[in-house]
Amino acid sequence: MVVKIYRSARSLTKKVCDVKKQGKTIGLVPTMGFLHEGHMSLIRRAREDTDCVMVSIFVNPAQFGPKEDFKKYPRDFKRDFSLCEKENVDIVFAPKVEEMYPENYATYINVEKITDTLCGASRPGHFRGVATVVAKLFNITMPDIAYFGQKDIQQAVVIKKMAEDLNMSVRIKAMPIVREKDGLAMSSRNIYLNLEERMQAQSIYKSLKLAKELFDSGERDSGKIINKMRKVIDKQSEAKIDYIKIVDTKGLKDMKKISDEAFVAAAVWVGKTRLIDNIILRQRPK
Ligand code: PAJ
Repeated sequence: MVVKIYRSARSLTKKVCDVKKQGKTIGLVPTMGFLHEGHMSLIRRAREDTDCVMVSIFVNPAQFGPKEDFKKYPRDFKRDFSLCEKENVDIVFAPKVEEMYPENYATYINVEKITDTLCGASRPGHFRGVATVVAKLFNITMPDIAYFGQKDIQQAVVIKKMAEDLNMSVRIKAMPIVREKDGLAMSSRNIYLNLEERMQAQSIYKSLKLAKELFDSGERDSGKIINKMRKVIDKQSEAKIDYIKIVDTKGLKDMKKISDEAFVAAAVWVGKTRLIDNIILRQRPK
């Protein structure tokens, strides 16, 4: 099947109207490209669920801080495109920055409270940029279902909240984290790591698994779990913890004592690369 590439929002929306007239459902997978198996898992799920699969590829400047890696963020459109082709994607939307943010662009979406913690605290303005671009993508493509990864768990929670609060008629599906063989969560940014850093990065998932083991054996004190996790990561010379937090799954508030369910979320600098990962703790039914 031939994938169609759209660069213009207006012409894509026109196409979307035709697709809808035919009674077809639309699945949207928003990405910043440099696709890996994590992205592909979302695309495959969209292919299973919906009639017309759209993948957006757009490195969104609005979600990068002034000192962050917008310029050097990895890009390989040709490779992304052929991966989409292999998965029978119907439409790739790959707009230029000027298409999404023309001169005098002035409208942004701010999801409050749940963006004050975790990555929102370390990256001011990040989720304002994410929510804005995702809302624009929703308006352009009018999807029935949009797919996000649990890898960026706060992002998934923020998008769900935005869709609910702004009465957007899209269903948000959050899909499981896809990992490398050694457990490292797949990420476009893993390419920044040298061999030594790549080895040391394994400590992030190791520490998350330790948290789950402790929880499963009855530990409910977040402070104790976090201290033990810190020890695993602090052993690595190139790793510097940005945060490790245990939060409730809805409001993302810190939990001192874990009840039935929580996210353990970590952000760790490995050399000059900031990596994030998380695991869910859930009490088994008695
Ligand atoms: P990006 O980092 O390219 O990720 C696109 C989608 O893939 C996100 O929903 C992310 O959570 C998911 N994803 C990334 N790594 C994953 C993994 N290892 N397993 C499962 N899913 C994974 O997230 C963004 O882009 C942007 O913020 C975006 C939503 C496109 C807005 O600009």
